[in-house]
Amino acid sequence: MSKYDQQRNFLKSNFSEFKKIKTDAMRGISQPPKVKPYDNNSQLIDLPMVDEKTLINKNIYTCIKERRSTRFYSDKTISLDELSYLLWATQGITSTNKAGITFRTVPCSGATHTFESYLLIRNVENLIQGVYRYLPVEHKLLFMFEIDELENKIDEITLDQPFVPNFANKAAVLFIWSTTPYRSEWKYDITAHKKILIDIGHVCQNLYLASETINAGTCAIGIYDQNRIDQLLGLNKEEEFVIYLAAVGKKQ
Ligand SMILES: Cc1cc2nc3c(=O)[nH]c(=O)nc-3n(C[C@H](O)[C@H](O)[C@H](O)COP(=O)(O)O)c2cc1C
Repeated sequence: MSKYDQQRNFLKSNFSEFKKIKTDAMRGISQPPKVKPYDNNSQLIDLPMVDEKTLINKNIYTCIKERRSTRFYSDKTISLDELSYLLWATQGITSTNKAGITFRTVPCSGATHTFESYLLIRNVENLIQGVYRYLPVEHKLLFMFEIDELENKIDEITLDQPFVPNFANKAAVLFIWSTTPYRSEWKYDITAHKKILIDIGHVCQNLYLASETINAGTCAIGIYDQNRIDQLLGLNKEEEFVIYLAAVGKKQ
């Protein structure tokens, strides 16, 4: 067997195998929480209502055409309106059905939405530097903790960047998406994992395009230290772990 076989098989559809499986959903096992619960005593920060007026470039054709992975940023602050808009563009809820299933600004296999958005905030209006989590249902931020030497921490977790060393530590915000795979496994069993990877691509593409509209640039980050980042965010690493990152800053 070639060293690639297993990984290539992961990329293929295993729907015919799936059809023979009784999923946890079919077996009547209760559905896991659709979003990560949080402590009622948490410090929550209201985000401004998303308003089209925040957009500087509204032409989608230009945004698609001009989009590039941006690894050099200006020192300009991202406003809270802009951050609110980027969070909405990536995970914002636009409707909820009777069963409580959320439909968002991004497509997602079976609307399973296995992601949580964490932010390492470095330069956002009125927010102290630190780690935050987005609450999509409330459209609020949950403040998690401050970080000493934020830039060093960002370097440690986005190690060995091939194009521009240490670029992420100049970003205004680092988006960090975790996945809780069981939200999809419950419904899709062995077919969940490929779907999760496709789903997160949609999220990041919306971040790229939404950033273009506010004169900001994004760069996806697939090279990161899994252990360090899961540890920093206090994730249990089996049930929830980081899957993808993206740096965002105003363009120079
Ligand atoms: C899944 C994925 C992972 C990536 N990881 C990194 C990364 O770790 N570091 C980086 O500098 N760029 C990363 N990129 C950005 C790509 O290098 C970039 O998209 C590619 O060079 C094409 O350039 P463009 O986005 O400007 O069209 C990643 C892009 C994708 C889609």
